[in-house]
Amino acid sequence: MKLTQEEQEMLEGKQGNAARKSMEILTALGDIFGAKRLVPVTSVQVSGVSYANLGDAGLEYLEEMAKDGKVKVLTTLNPAGMDMENWKALGISPEFAEKQKKVIDAFAKMGIQTTCTCTPYFIGNRPKKGEHISWGESSAVTFANSVLGAKTSKEGGPSALAAALTGRTPEYGFHLDKNRQAQVLVEVKTDLHDETDFGALGYLVGKKIGNKIPLIIGIKKATEDQLKSLSASIVTYGAPALFHIKGITPNEIIEPSEKIELSAADIEQAKKEMFDEGETDFVLLGCPHCSIEELGKIANLLKGKKVTKETWICTARPIKKQAEEKGYVRIIEESGAKFACDTCHVVAPLKGRFKCVAINSAKGVFYGRGKNNFKMQLKTQEKCIEDATGGD
Ligand code: F3S
Repeated sequence: MKLTQEEQEMLEGKQGNAARKSMEILTALGDIFGAKRLVPVTSVQVSGVSYANLGDAGLEYLEEMAKDGKVKVLTTLNPAGMDMENWKALGISPEFAEKQKKVIDAFAKMGIQTTCTCTPYFIGNRPKKGEHISWGESSAVTFANSVLGAKTSKEGGPSALAAALTGRTPEYGFHLDKNRQAQVLVEVKTDLHDETDFGALGYLVGKKIGNKIPLIIGIKKATEDQLKSLSASIVTYGAPALFHIKGITPNEIIEPSEKIELSAADIEQAKKEMFDEGETDFVLLGCPHCSIEELGKIANLLKGKKVTKETWICTARPIKKQAEEKGYVRIIEESGAKFACDTCHVVAPLKGRFKCVAINSAKGVFYGRGKNNFKMQLKTQEKCIEDATGGD
């Protein structure tokens, strides 16, 4: 790979140990994927933040990098293993909390913004069309590539951190326009109404076309929250971290000749497959983390009601702040529902605490089943709140 003088100097350690290690990671990755050069990035999203996933070895690595590492571009963090302020109320042990705080301290020392969220595009880390970025977190990567038109590979924690500490990423995959073209036309022959329909669409596309990039046609309109739901599910169920929707997403695309069709019956069947029988004992909204619009709807649905089951609303802390100003937080907390900022049901250590979870996220269904062994029930936001309040 051809390096600039500055990149060569970083590789030789002239900008410190963390930059040297980072360049070693990036050049090794570039060699594996046949990249000819590194490209400058404008933004980074680092995944692999939960102590539950990192363990002591991961924490040690981060503390080592934090000795002299400093980020060169805007860098945000994925959810951690707990709400950094409200962890006690969410049942997290002090031992876990202590380790998780050390992880966040190491990231902070490197100059990373420590608002831990999988929707960084709602809190100011929102790249523009055509920008090269380096993001981890599959749902955010897919949203950035598809809905925002930015260009990123699906990074792991170490490679995204390396990009943050050098301001570079290897140019391969979705960084190159030739790799961003659609390969299968997906015609949706029914109207999609809510986030579970979009989640089911992602489930079907992922399962039916595997690792080919879809151009979806037949969708007349979609809100950003619905596209967030689709971004999370499509990549979870096997598709690449890039899709196009004719008339909605910003990338210019040529129609491919291979085609599949999806009917209303297909969408219903997909939703059935994401519903396990059982008595709900946990309700979770905010996978990916809630937007301010979603918090407004949840507040409206919970107004004057009381939840009878453990209910978490996951969102980024700055979005919760906005919701506070609009009066949503008071309404939601008066109902007994709890905010879980900085975290979610997958990265928090929840195994064994619950049996059956109601959720409005197809991605959440996959990881709730796989990671925590929960029974999972995909339901709309309205139905989840009905569940939480016992139909009150
Ligand atoms: Fe975000 Fe956790 Fe869902 S990281 S996308 S809320 S599984």
